[in-house]
Amino acid sequence: MQEIKFYSGENIPLELHKVRIVQKLNLVPIERRLEALYEGGFNTFRLSTKDVFLDMLTDSGTNAMSDNQLAAMMQADDAYAGSQSFVRLQKAVEDVLGKKLLLPVHQGRAAESIISIAYVKKGSLIPMNYHFTTAMAHITQNGGKIAELLYDEAYVINSSHPFKGNMNIEKLEDVIKSHGAANIPFIRMEASTNLIGGQPFSVQNLRDVRAMADKYGIRIVLDCSLLGENAYLVMKREEEFKNSDMGTIMRTMTALADLCYFSARKISSSRGGGMCTDKMEIFKELEALVPLYEGFLTYGGISIREIEAMAVGLYETLDETMICQSPSFIKYLVEALDAKGIPVIKPAGVLGAHVDAMQFCAHIPQTEYPAGGLAAALFLISGVRGMERGSISNQRDEDGNETYADMELLRLAVPRRVFTLSQIKYVEDRLNWLYDNRLLIGGLRFVYEPPVLRFFMGGLEPTSDWPTKLMAKFKEDFGESL
Ligand code: F0G
Repeated sequence: MQEIKFYSGENIPLELHKVRIVQKLNLVPIERRLEALYEGGFNTFRLSTKDVFLDMLTDSGTNAMSDNQLAAMMQADDAYAGSQSFVRLQKAVEDVLGKKLLLPVHQGRAAESIISIAYVKKGSLIPMNYHFTTAMAHITQNGGKIAELLYDEAYVINSSHPFKGNMNIEKLEDVIKSHGAANIPFIRMEASTNLIGGQPFSVQNLRDVRAMADKYGIRIVLDCSLLGENAYLVMKREEEFKNSDMGTIMRTMTALADLCYFSARKISSSRGGGMCTDKMEIFKELEALVPLYEGFLTYGGISIREIEAMAVGLYETLDETMICQSPSFIKYLVEALDAKGIPVIKPAGVLGAHVDAMQFCAHIPQTEYPAGGLAAALFLISGVRGMERGSISNQRDEDGNETYADMELLRLAVPRRVFTLSQIKYVEDRLNWLYDNRLLIGGLRFVYEPPVLRFFMGGLEPTSDWPTKLMAKFKEDFGESL
């Protein structure tokens, strides 16, 4: 891809799109933001968007849609069965992901549920590069366990390793030998490993996983939710693919997997999800579960309009000028924060910038959820809603003990083509102020803890009156500014 250089020498990501539909945002006063935190149990999932300025919670279902996607939604062929919109989606999946057999589901975790119901049982072990919250929850709900097999470098915050999402091949073989291939229904690879900072794996690594899977006769399931961005970073970082196009890289990756699934909320800037394969026996094993849990096989619980948007969105992932937008803004933000000494996951990955709360809030013990405290503090002083990706997002073990996360991260998602550079600079500015005042941030404790996926609806409270003190310092420094 051509880099666009500035005469000034500044390194600025340039938007290769124009904004044609906009939505007004509000920045409410800090006093209201403090109330909103208490009302929402210090959990950014429970904030109402009327109180949120920049919504960096997630890229899921929040990427900007294109004019072509919206236009396609108007030609939806609404039918319970045999819809032509589904035929168009099948064609898009085959063209973009290279798999002929498609099963639609209402979102990514529905695919995880169906795959787990079909293949996971008590005693099963699923090796993976790293877990995603919903993937792990479905595997454990069905009696299985997971083994996370990353190289040590994946956990290094300040790194220059291009592929921190690589699976540790030596550990993979050890796990297969010790657990027995018969108890491993599949190996799960997650493209752009979400919870360790949106870090990609290389195609070579996936080939090595494939060789190991073939040696022991085990399937590979590839989570393609962030495949486009992973492929983009392969193009940027893996010598063999530097002159390849997006489609070639994406299909090289999917061809190495037996079964692919995706959250369309992410990969195609729409709603929905899907599972696709070339193997009829896999298709047959999963097929019956789709009408049972999701909907008939030609809509899978997705609105037909969104199926049209999904098909167009899948083709758009082949366009580097679209797919590079989020990673290039993330890189800009990560480099700006890093230049100020703010601890942030490097190299910049996909999905968002990831601030290391373990260092940022080194004074908060892990028992008091430093990343949760940091997420609440940033919202308080800026109206920016990020997401805790640390121990609150972890689930307790089977004996009910806390399992502390390997990393305590505040994720600041940068959905595709949503924010402008001045908004990104505002985030940088407020984080910078917060870093200078970081000792005023405190911890959190649970007051309401749901048994499954507790981070979504859990309620917490601050361990002291630190939010009020932080607000007072903000007002001292910013005066009447929002
Ligand atoms: N796999 C990955 C890698 C994901 O990032 C997600 C969702 C899913 C599966 C589940 O898909 O939400 O459509 O059911 N990630 C969102 C996030 C929720 O905020 O990172 P879903």
